[in-house]
Amino acid sequence: MKRIIVAIDGYSSSGKSTMARQLAREVGYLYVDSGAMYRAVTLFALREGMASQGGGLDAAALVGRLDDVEVSFRLMPDGSQHTCLNGEDVEAQIRGMEVSEMVSPVAAVPEVRHRLVAMQQSYGRDKGIVMDGRDIGTTVFPDAEMKVFVQASPEVRARRRVDELLAKGESVSYEEVLANVCERDRIDTTRKESPLRRAADALLLDNDHLTREQQMEWLLKEFSRITGK
Ligand code: DC
Repeated sequence: MKRIIVAIDGYSSSGKSTMARQLAREVGYLYVDSGAMYRAVTLFALREGMASQGGGLDAAALVGRLDDVEVSFRLMPDGSQHTCLNGEDVEAQIRGMEVSEMVSPVAAVPEVRHRLVAMQQSYGRDKGIVMDGRDIGTTVFPDAEMKVFVQASPEVRARRRVDELLAKGESVSYEEVLANVCERDRIDTTRKESPLRRAADALLLDNDHLTREQQMEWLLKEFSRITGK
């Protein structure tokens, strides 16, 4: 059976990670959450005092320390994947608001992107991979056999994110999260290096009015069509 690369890109909190993970599980592929890699580098910058809320980012200092940042993934007994920073499991820390508020400026630093893109490309060498992010179909794997671009309105995405954070016990307001979602959209789409945009050959999935089950059904149908299985 033909093994392919599946690139899933889209706006923050559009549900792309959930669907990418689920697709990978269904078809027996490796799943890589590229956003988690940018989040881990952001956590490093925060911990080392090179980034602070309100204080901005010292990009030059971060670039100078990139050799000290090692990002990896650990497979958990329940089948989930945790992100590690220099060997430490930081899965919980990288999902909080502190990292979410700093990650877009960090992801706009060209040297950070070059390093993480090279790592992402090495994961796809043997194909059989589903990767989600912002530039997977445009920059990381421009030749991916299956590309999906996911979109949903900022209001729907903010509502989903609030529910996610509340379920984890983080107290946040809808307004705060909506502002964060809109600000990340702005930075992600306007940055110079690999801005978020739909690849010309990407399938469009607008999931404002779709349930998770409907999305999966659509995704699996497209996957079967492309792999001929
Ligand atoms: O998907 P996410 O929300 O976890 O991504 C976190 C941030 O990382 C997001 O603001 C944009 C950035 N990112 C990126 O620039 N390129 C990627 N391939 C993945 C994420």
